[in-house]
Amino acid sequence: MFTIDLQDKVALVLGGSRGIGASITEMLACAGAAVYFTHTGNPDNAERISDLVDRVSSEGGEALGVALDALDSKSTEDLVRRIVSEKGGLDILVCNVGRNLARLPEEITDQDWKSFIDINLTSAFYGVRAVLGLMAAAGYGKIILIGSSAVFDGGGGGLDYAAAKAGMTGMMTYLCRAYLRRGIRTNIIHPCVIETDLLKERYNDPEKRRTLEAQIPVGRFGKPEDIAGLVVFLASGFGDYICGQEILADGGRTMYNK
Ligand SMILES: NC(=O)c1ccc[n+]([C@@H]2O[C@H](COP(=O)([O-])OP(=O)(O)OC[C@H]3O[C@@H](n4cnc5c(N)ncnc54)[C@H](OP(=O)(O)O)[C@@H]3O)[C@@H](O)[C@H]2O)c1
Repeated sequence: MFTIDLQDKVALVLGGSRGIGASITEMLACAGAAVYFTHTGNPDNAERISDLVDRVSSEGGEALGVALDALDSKSTEDLVRRIVSEKGGLDILVCNVGRNLARLPEEITDQDWKSFIDINLTSAFYGVRAVLGLMAAAGYGKIILIGSSAVFDGGGGGLDYAAAKAGMTGMMTYLCRAYLRRGIRTNIIHPCVIETDLLKERYNDPEKRRTLEAQIPVGRFGKPEDIAGLVVFLASGFGDYICGQEILADGGRTMYNK
């Protein structure tokens, strides 16, 4: 018998309040990590966040939600400093903040472009930059980026989104090259068709949903836990020898629908 044990680990999940991020928060915490997760602070989500914290605590875990504008680099750095002062370190960073909108390239304004690159890519950069020094000094760290299958097939929404997610892959490659010898292992997970608010918003018509589902060889939409389980695995000792990888979790859709 073996279990995944993150008891002595501290994690920060950027965008960890709902969908895939909430499941990552919950599973990391239930594996024993002390988890800080961020959200926009939107009052509409308050109940959902307190349910998440209660669920984790009823399972014996520890998760703390923090309202953080993902594009406020100073607040991101302050949060990392706070975590280190409260917990003595930070071992795991998950960059999950993301937003997508399906439209044609001609419909993307200059402002849209900047804002989608920012929310999907710059937010991850701010998180990564805030933790690199302390992880390098500790000689250990796990950075897990959440990308998208759009980097392989261009699908799933806008050109700006696909470009930003591809930028995250470049970030992952750089981080491995520059920081692996200092103990920081970085990987990127590319989800596809996971049942979350983001997906429901994009496929709100039942007919469109059926068409989409029929394209998934395993026969179902993904669940947030399908991604969260992978994050926990990579964050644990079982993932220690995996570095610089792009892991596609898509029920086979990308490979078999080309
Ligand atoms: N669902 C899919 O099929 C799919 C496919 C490919 C890739 N992905 C990627 O997987 C990740 C999670 O997707 P999801 O479907 O779970 O998305 P989601 O349900 O929309 O959740 C997005 C998360 O990001 C947070 N967030 C958004 N904008 C933010 C901001 N400006 N500042 C701080 N936090 C912000 C949200 O916080 P609030 O709760 O406060 O709004 C929420 O926790 C994203 O990076 C997405 O691109 C998803």
